[in-house]
Amino acid sequence: PLVNMTDMLDKALEEDYAVGQFNINNLEWTQAILEACEEENSPVILGVSEGATSYMGGFNTVVNIVEGLLEDMEITIPVAIHLDHGGSFESCKKAIDAGYTSVMIDASHDPFEENIETTKKVVEYAKKHNVSVEAELGTVGGEEDGVIGGIKYADPQECKELVERTGIDALAPALGSVHGPYQGEPDLGFPEMKEIMEATGVPLVLHGGTGIPNEDIKKAINRGTSKINVNTDFQQAWTKVVRDLLAEDKDVYDPRKIIGPGKEGIIETAKRKIDIFGSANKA
Ligand code: G3H
Ligand code: ZN
Repeated sequence: PLVNMTDMLDKALEEDYAVGQFNINNLEWTQAILEACEEENSPVILGVSEGATSYMGGFNTVVNIVEGLLEDMEITIPVAIHLDHGGSFESCKKAIDAGYTSVMIDASHDPFEENIETTKKVVEYAKKHNVSVEAELGTVGGEEDGVIGGIKYADPQECKELVERTGIDALAPALGSVHGPYQGEPDLGFPEMKEIMEATGVPLVLHGGTGIPNEDIKKAINRGTSKINVNTDFQQAWTKVVRDLLAEDKDVYDPRKIIGPGKEGIIETAKRKIDIFGSANKA
């Protein structure tokens, strides 16, 4: 069923695993992720950025595709549709009005007080619609949906204040992770993560899940991380299958025989992530 992410994340925090936010781009992507998660009996958060939302057709199209698949595929696991890196109150409102069950308001690039104001406004609106809210502090490195930025670590005191003053359900403190492939090994701020977990008590979110070594994933989960976002890994897995297939078969032209097989790459990646995150049989 379609749910918000509050219960999923509270349970994950209590039982020491993480729920994957797996980002979707189209119909096949959504099918593949739902299929893998249903088979693993794992809850899942379908991440949809503003860019991916408009690519897929818009907020209503995304909700209708997901709802259609939940019914046709007879999906039983908890599924959330989550706006990834929502850039404004207006964009979060549109997502909520269309039926997204969860939103991230990313006002992390604004001054602290402005971030709090915007986040508060989103929480107020979201609560009325039973929608969960994630906010961010600090800066995730690499490209954030077209916006390229350097890494800036979140400040634990600010995290505590943001959580207390806004009532968010989950917090993404940037602690050295990067969107897209890492240049060398990631250097995550684990002491700060622990401090933030203790100061806030809310489930923490790790962005830039692609390319983080398994031991670091385990460490993060031990320090309060209950949601891990993965996008690039899926894109690379899908593209590899499709690229190899086109290189091998010069005559194929049926799109179903080109796009379709890419799903195998997505399914395999999702199952691997679920295994590392420990969310199998937690539905
Ligand atoms: O919000 C989305 C994630 O942070 C994805 O990061 O593309 O590095 O896996 P990634
Ligand atoms: Zn992110």
